[in-house]
Amino acid sequence: MKSGSIAGYSAPQIALHWLIAALVLFQLVFGESMSVALDAAGEGEAVSASDASLASAHYWIGIAILVLVGLRLALRLTAGAPAPQPSGTPIFDRLAHAVHWLFYALLVAMPVTGLLAYYVSPEIGEVHEIGKPVFILLIAVHVAGALYHQFLLKDGTLRRMLVPSR
Ligand code: HEM
Ligand code: HEM
Repeated sequence: MKSGSIAGYSAPQIALHWLIAALVLFQLVFGESMSVALDAAGEGEAVSASDASLASAHYWIGIAILVLVGLRLALRLTAGAPAPQPSGTPIFDRLAHAVHWLFYALLVAMPVTGLLAYYVSPEIGEVHEIGKPVFILLIAVHVAGALYHQFLLKDGTLRRMLVPSR
């Protein structure tokens, strides 16, 4: 990983961060409609219009996330990222680093297991569903960390994910 090689995140990196975050939140909030629609179809029951459209949105937004994260990782690996802001507590710094890379792993694993559940075997859906609480936990830790940096340490960490430096 190239870290510390640049002064801050670029506009495309920032745009991708917030776009992907918004799409992931949509997936987490409305993902159940995919389960409901597939269960109903499996039982030969009618699927409500709202579940059908939310399931279709789940499919396409999930694929969009996979494409966007591919782009984001390519930028991350070629252009790099600014050096992490030390928090003064080494275990927090290690936690932040781990959460960032677990996010990238999950952002690839969720669409892949989703596609496998859809096309290959419904049992993989159980693995896909475990991703939901894992994602929520990581987001909670990540947001707490961002707010801690911004408002207690006042080191401008949130700002650098809002204002491009290049
Ligand atoms: C980052 C992307 C994704 C996230 C965060 C996500 C999240 C979720 C969530 C929260 C659920 C509901 C779990 C529950 O009912 O408790 C779900 C179900 C499901 N998703 Fe995704 N998903 C993503 C991408 C995809 C993609 C690309 C597909 C491809 C078709 C997909 C297919 C499915 C299927 C088939 C289910 C139903 C699983 C089952 O009932 O066993 N997902 N997803
Ligand atoms: C699903 C939601 C989210 C995901 C998947 C996500 C993912 C990530 C990832 C992977 C990074 C590391 C970037 C890199 O250096 O490669 C990052 C950085 C960052 N995120 Fe998020 N994020 C999410 C939501 C949020 C939210 C809601 C906030 C604000 C409260 C936030 C604030 C930040 C900040 C400030 C950084 C920069 C950290 C630094 O400069 O070291 N993120 N995010």
